[in-house]
Amino acid sequence: MQKINVSVLVGSLRRQSVSRKLAKAIAALAPSHLELDFVELGELPLYNEDLEQDPPAAFTRFRSAIAASQAVLFVTPEYNRGVPGLLKNAIDVGSRPWGKSVWSGKPAAVVSMSYGMLGGLGAHHQLRQVAAGVNLSTMPHPEAYISNAPSSFNEAGELTNAATGEFLTAFGRAFADWIALQLRLPA
Ligand SMILES: Cc1cc2nc3c(=O)[nH]c(=O)nc-3n(C[C@H](O)[C@H](O)[C@H](O)COP(=O)(O)O)c2cc1C
Repeated sequence: MQKINVSVLVGSLRRQSVSRKLAKAIAALAPSHLELDFVELGELPLYNEDLEQDPPAAFTRFRSAIAASQAVLFVTPEYNRGVPGLLKNAIDVGSRPWGKSVWSGKPAAVVSMSYGMLGGLGAHHQLRQVAAGVNLSTMPHPEAYISNAPSSFNEAGELTNAATGEFLTAFGRAFADWIALQLRLPA
């Protein structure tokens, strides 16, 4: 089956980030023709249009990485009922210069997580709203709100919750199907 390159964007910089553990678990369980590459966001300067006169190397590297991929996976915690600024900044960087957005038309998927019960619902839907604004084609279903996320992983960061593993496996398959549909790939 044709290889599909998926950029993975994680909305947390924390060394022990559970979102990153979750993203790694999704990558490990995804169909083998999906190649999930983590694109790092921590070195991106805050977006400022003045920077376009001489774009920082981090902007150029980031834009090239997204442009070269065929799909995008967001895995994020929630900050104050919204998308962490880290992730919103990355989307803004990729959306400019005007007319040269690297997002437009790419299939995408959103996974949100929380330590508590709500699964990052606020961040999740804010991210879907922003994704629509940059013409990402976000998979509607299955929706992925991972609540009590830390309890699914052991000390080594490995996924230990079988039910979460089953859900993430089904999610990965559905995302592969969504990408194929959006990119009109042969079955
Ligand atoms: C500024 C800030 C705001 C937060 N707001 C929320 C929130 O609205 N909802 C929520 O479930 N967790 C909230 N949290 C908890 C984070 O989800 C949690 O600390 C952590 O970032 C989870 O992701 P990580 O392990 O990948 O870093 C907040 C944390 C911070 C630092």
